[in-house]
Amino acid sequence: MKFFIDTANIEQIKEAQDLGVLDGVTTNPSLMAKEGITGEENIMQHYIDICEIVTGDVSAEVIATDFKGIITEGERLASLHKRIVVKVPMIKDGIKALKYFSDKGTKTNCTLVFSPGQALLAAKAGATYVSPFLGRLDDINQDGILLIEQIVKIYHIYNFKTQVLAASIRSPLHIVRCAEAGAHVATCPLAAILDLLKHPLTDSGLAKFLSDYKKGQQTQAAV
Ligand code: E4P
Repeated sequence: MKFFIDTANIEQIKEAQDLGVLDGVTTNPSLMAKEGITGEENIMQHYIDICEIVTGDVSAEVIATDFKGIITEGERLASLHKRIVVKVPMIKDGIKALKYFSDKGTKTNCTLVFSPGQALLAAKAGATYVSPFLGRLDDINQDGILLIEQIVKIYHIYNFKTQVLAASIRSPLHIVRCAEAGAHVATCPLAAILDLLKHPLTDSGLAKFLSDYKKGQQTQAAV
């Protein structure tokens, strides 16, 4: 399973890249605004900066919601850097745009997906990635992991090439459950990736190994 980081924060992207397990980045207009990135030129430059840190795909979301606008904006985004994936919302004109980009060989990520039917449409339109938002479903007491399982199953039955990019991940458990479900990618906050490291038995086991090593050194020195 690929790991993407879900942020527009340069420091966090660098930290995840340094860890050596990062396969890409997803952003959205809320994440860009959170970093204080405003104005078209600054936003475009920020995408380029992100692309120069990582070695994988970087999703950049369009703001337009009409077909012509999505195409114009998506083509501009795609021309910024070879790593850019055009992120398109799950709306009627979005589906038409996904098909257009797919025919042109431009990579896409269909975002704001909350049902298997939406994911089926995205795959039919030739999206490179589909982004089901599992955390937001959990937030309203619906089963986000079930959605990932359903989409993986449907794509497998029909051999769709669209990759399931599990999004809106809140915890390390979400990441593990997505891996079990067969998601191709999980896009996560840095904290959720780092939380995968944690286990109390690792901490206590390491403390014991180090203290035993130290005792051994002291005994050796005393002989
Ligand atoms: C996906 O690409 C989205 O940017 C993201 O995962 C949304 O997550 P949120 O529900 O935490 O905002």
